[in-house]
Amino acid sequence: MTLLTANDKRTCLCAALNASNIGDTVCLMGWVQRRRNLGSLMFIDLRDRSGIIQLAFDDNTSPDVFETALDVRPEYVLCAKGIVRSRAEGAINKKLPTGDIEIAVDSLKILSESQTPPFEIVENSKVRPELRLKHRYLDLRRPDLQRHILARSEITRIAREYFAQNGFVDIETPSLIAPTPEGARDYLVPSRVHPGKFYALPQSPQLYKQLLMVAGFDRYFQIARCFRDEDLRADRQPEFTQIDLEMSFVTEEDIITINEGFLSTLFERFCNEKLETPFPRLTYAEAMTRFGSDKPDMRFGFELCDLSDIAAKSEFKVFSNAVKAGGSVRGINVKGGASFSRKEIDSLVEFVKTYRAKGLAWLKQVNGEQSSSYAKFLSDDENNAITARLAVEDGDLVLIVADKDAVVFDALGALRCEVAKRMGLLSPKDRKFLWVTDFPLFEYSEEDQRYYAKHHPFTMMKDEDIDLLETDPASVRAKAYDIVLNGTELGGGSIRIHNPDIQKRLFSVLDLSEKEANEKFGFLLEAFKYGVPPHGGLAFGLDRLVALILGLEDIRDVIAFPKVQNASELMTKCPSIADPLALQELHISIDSASGEAAKSE
Ligand code: AMO
Ligand code: AMP
Repeated sequence: MTLLTANDKRTCLCAALNASNIGDTVCLMGWVQRRRNLGSLMFIDLRDRSGIIQLAFDDNTSPDVFETALDVRPEYVLCAKGIVRSRAEGAINKKLPTGDIEIAVDSLKILSESQTPPFEIVENSKVRPELRLKHRYLDLRRPDLQRHILARSEITRIAREYFAQNGFVDIETPSLIAPTPEGARDYLVPSRVHPGKFYALPQSPQLYKQLLMVAGFDRYFQIARCFRDEDLRADRQPEFTQIDLEMSFVTEEDIITINEGFLSTLFERFCNEKLETPFPRLTYAEAMTRFGSDKPDMRFGFELCDLSDIAAKSEFKVFSNAVKAGGSVRGINVKGGASFSRKEIDSLVEFVKTYRAKGLAWLKQVNGEQSSSYAKFLSDDENNAITARLAVEDGDLVLIVADKDAVVFDALGALRCEVAKRMGLLSPKDRKFLWVTDFPLFEYSEEDQRYYAKHHPFTMMKDEDIDLLETDPASVRAKAYDIVLNGTELGGGSIRIHNPDIQKRLFSVLDLSEKEANEKFGFLLEAFKYGVPPHGGLAFGLDRLVALILGLEDIRDVIAFPKVQNASELMTKCPSIADPLALQELHISIDSASGEAAKSE
C-alpha cells in the first residue's frame, strides 16, 4: 500500500474520457472492477462514480508497474497514471461508453487493499437485500445505486433552485419539538435535563412553517427530514424527506400553480420531458366514485360503475342485502380481460379478500357467449341491465363487489390497478399527474364514535361549508389538495385556518376542550392573536418523487441508508440497547421483560 503525494493529482473521473482525449496524460483514481491476466497482456477495469475505464499493461509497461498490477484484486483502490490511447480494432467494447479507448499505464499505486467483498459490485444485483443492506457502503458502490443517489442529489438541487428563484426562503426548523399531529405515532426523545419529559421528532415541520408565516417570511422552503412511527411499506420509511413549503396571502390556486411550475421545471430539466399543465383535477368524491381511490392511477380506464339500483331489487341476497345495509354494488369492465383464465380469476377473488371484500362476482364474454359466477342468481332483465350499463362487449371481463361502500371502493380501487398490472398496462414512462381536491375535513371513527381531522387540525374548510361545522361535520369539505402521479400520493397540502374563532369551532368538533387545545397547541393559538396572514402550503415526499421519476417501486432504492420493514438499520444494527448509565441519567428504567426481549433479539 502506498500513500498519495502532492504529485498525484487526479485529472478527471474515469468515464469523463473519450476519443477526443487520445494522447492526453491522465491520472485516475478508483476501484478495481476486475482484472484480466492474459500473460504478457493485462487489463484492469477501473471504476468510479462516473463509470469504468480500461487500464492496459503490456510489453511496453515497465516491469515494476506490471508487478504491481499483478497484486491487484477486485475492490482495491488504485491511482493510475498513463496516456489515453485508442483500442485495437477488435478490442473495442461497444457496451462501455469508454469502450473505444484505454489507458497505457506508466505508473500505478495501490492506495488501499480490499478483502474479497461479500457480493460482487454489479448492476441489478440478485444478492438478497439483507446482505446488501448490512454492507450498504458496498451496495452503494453498485452503478444503479450510484445513479439513483446522484439523481436524488440533482433533483434536490433543481428543487432548491426553483423555489429560491420564486422567492422562497430556505429555513431550517428544529428536530426536537413538541408533538405535531400528522396522524402517525411520534418518535420520542427523552430529556436528561427535564426528568420524565420528552421531545418528539417532527412528523413534519407543519406548525413551524405556519409560525414562519406569522413571522412574516412570506414564502418558506425546506428539504425537511420527517419521522413517523408507522408500519412500513414499499413507499413508507420511518424517516423520510419532504420538499416542504408554505406561502402567505395565497389561495389554493396559487399553491397549485407554483407546484405545477416546479414539477414542469423538474421534468423538463431532469427528464427532458414536457409536462402538460394545468394537470387534470378531480374532487375527492369524484375520485372515489370513479376510481375507488383518492390517489387514482389514470394510465388506464376500468372505471367503477354503480349497479346498486339494479342490484337492490334482485333476489340475489349477496347483492340486495349489501344495498339494504346501506352499502353498494359496483363493478368494473376490464376491457380485454376475458383472456383471464378461471385460475387467474380465482386469484383475483383471493386478492379482493385482502381488502376485506367477502367475494367477487365476475362475468366474461367471448364470441357472444357469456360465462359468469352470478348471472344464474339474477333475472334476464337484471343481467341485461348490468351488461348494458357496463357496455360489455366481446373480450370483456366484468368484476363486481357488493359490500359497505368503504370496502367496495377499497377492493375495486385496488383491483383495477392489479388487473392493469397483470395485463402489462403500467408503463412508468407514461406519467399521469392529477390533483385531488375537496377532501372531507373529518373522518368518522365508528370504533371511537367521534370525528378525527383527515389531514391535520389546522386545515381550512371550503367557505361555503363553514356553517356545516356544527350541523353536518361529515359533509364539510377541506381546502386540501393532493398531487398524485400514477397511483402514488406524491404530496399534499392545504390552506390553513388563520382565524382563531374558526380554529376553536374546529377543535370543538374534534372534542378538544379549550384547555386541551391550549395544552397541545397553545403556542400556535397565542401566535394567532398577533396578526396572521392567510396562508397555505404543501409537502412533496422527496423519496417517492425520486423513485417514481426513476421508475422504481421501493423508496429504499433512493435512500442512502434506509431502514428495513421492522424499522431497524442492518448496518449499524440500530435501534440498540442503551448503556445503563445513559438510561439512569435519563431517569428511564426498562421493564425486565422488554430488557430480556431486547437482549435476545
Ligand atoms: P403529508 O402527511 O401528506 O403532509 O406528507 C406529505 C408527503 O410526504 C410523503 N410521505 C412519506 N414518504 C415516505 N415515507 C413516509 N412514511 C411518508 N409519509 C408521508 C408522501 C406525502 O404526500 N405537513 C403536511 C403537508 C402540508 O400540509 O403542507 C404533511 O406532512 O408523499
Ligand atoms: P355464494 O352465494 O357465496 O356462492 O356466491 C355466489 C357468487 O357471488 C360467487 O361468484 C361469489 O364470488 C359472489 N359473491 C359473494 N360475495 C360477494 C360480494 N360480497 N360481492 C360480490 N360478489 C360476491
